[in-house]
Amino acid sequence: MNLSSHSLPPGSFGLPLIGETLSFLKERDFLKNRQNKYGSIFKTKIFGQPTVVMIGSQANRFIMSSHKDCFSHDGWPDTFKSLLGNKVLLLQEGDEHRRKRKLLMPTLHGSALSNYLPKIEEISRNYLQQWEKLDSLVWFPQLGRMTFEIASKLLIGSESGEVNDYLFKLFIELNRGLLTIPIRWHWTPYSRALQAREQILAYIDKAIQHRQQQPTQDVLGLLIQAQDEDGQGLTKEEIKSQALALLIGTNANTASMLTSLCMALGQHPHVLAKARAEQQIFQTDKLSLEKLKLMVYLDLVLKEVERCYPPVGAGFRRVIKPFVFNDYYVPATWNAIYSITGTHNDPQIYTSPELFDPERFNQEQTESKKIDFSLVGFGGGTRNCLGIAFAQTIIKVFTVNLLRSYTWELLRNQDLTLNRVPVLHPRSGLKIRLSRI
Ligand code: HEM
Repeated sequence: MNLSSHSLPPGSFGLPLIGETLSFLKERDFLKNRQNKYGSIFKTKIFGQPTVVMIGSQANRFIMSSHKDCFSHDGWPDTFKSLLGNKVLLLQEGDEHRRKRKLLMPTLHGSALSNYLPKIEEISRNYLQQWEKLDSLVWFPQLGRMTFEIASKLLIGSESGEVNDYLFKLFIELNRGLLTIPIRWHWTPYSRALQAREQILAYIDKAIQHRQQQPTQDVLGLLIQAQDEDGQGLTKEEIKSQALALLIGTNANTASMLTSLCMALGQHPHVLAKARAEQQIFQTDKLSLEKLKLMVYLDLVLKEVERCYPPVGAGFRRVIKPFVFNDYYVPATWNAIYSITGTHNDPQIYTSPELFDPERFNQEQTESKKIDFSLVGFGGGTRNCLGIAFAQTIIKVFTVNLLRSYTWELLRNQDLTLNRVPVLHPRSGLKIRLSRI
């Protein structure tokens, strides 16, 4: 078949050089507006690259599974690649990717995850106890501070206090640079993010030296000890990059999902009541991964939060083999984007997608199970999120403690519309008052 006899997808490349990058970063409904105009596959130009956007579960299956050999993973924006470093799992390919994924997997699953749970609970409770003393608070940055403390403690073993405050500031700088214009003047967000990266890596370097003398059971300790069947481990540079990327993955995304969950529960009293009622059953139980699995309604709420408020709205790929999708030709060297937000709002998959309704995922309905690749907040296929169990454990442990002992009120007169950059969050940051039950 002559692929190029098909026409290119509809859409616009925008302005010379910058294309539609500024609109992509600033326009609230960039993908949705273009989907309304052109349909579920269209072209644009962002971050200097001609890009095809493909929306829906079929597109996800095409990109993540049936035609994954047409794509490589270095389609992420240059800012992302230079700040994460090209050795991280997200950007690896083929055998190298498989080998590293296998080495990293045990550090975030099974017995390692069980060992992390008490620390997650201790830190969650400490933060809740601090917040209950305040008249009011803005929750998103505070949850960011908390998830950072959990991540930095469990991933790189950093202590609370000054060192953590210092690292947290560096992380905020780093996050600001992830989705921005890559200009290297020394005051630009990108340049400051690059400097922050170097400082964090220097910290991790010292933490590695420490562990080489005294092995630990945190993620960094396990990464140092990890070996494949041939006795090969990761190099120091690889460990540093992976640890940094895992910290980024945990911090911003998990804080975003937690904020959305607290907002949604605050806005839907009947869902909150049901989630609380479920906790009555387990009230006296000590938390464990097994106990968390039994909290079926909490799981439905989490799925609906993932659907309505995915922290990462889209995934990036590079096209390495030309292909035809829905009768349109896409040449090699373009970038491709799969849209998580677009899929989750598809009325062909989800009835009344604009409604927040955890019951759509219950045993009888399971809307997402009818069509695969339709709930993709953590990606899908063999490249799905490595930290999904870790993130969900943090979110569940925090939420269980919140539901069992606290009420919270969303304060009036705040802007709860959503900002997508750098991760999804309400514009006001979610102003609340927290009290003990
Ligand atoms: C709510 C929190 C999180 C969300 C929404 C999220 C989302 C995602 C998504 C959408 C992908 C797929 C990207 C793609 O298709 O290329 C991904 C990949 C990945 N995530 Fe997460 N993530 C979260 C938390 C975490 C955590 C806690 C970690 C690690 C501690 C982590 C580590 C990774 C890694 C290493 C990959 C790359 C996997 C691979 O390519 O094999 N993520 N994540």
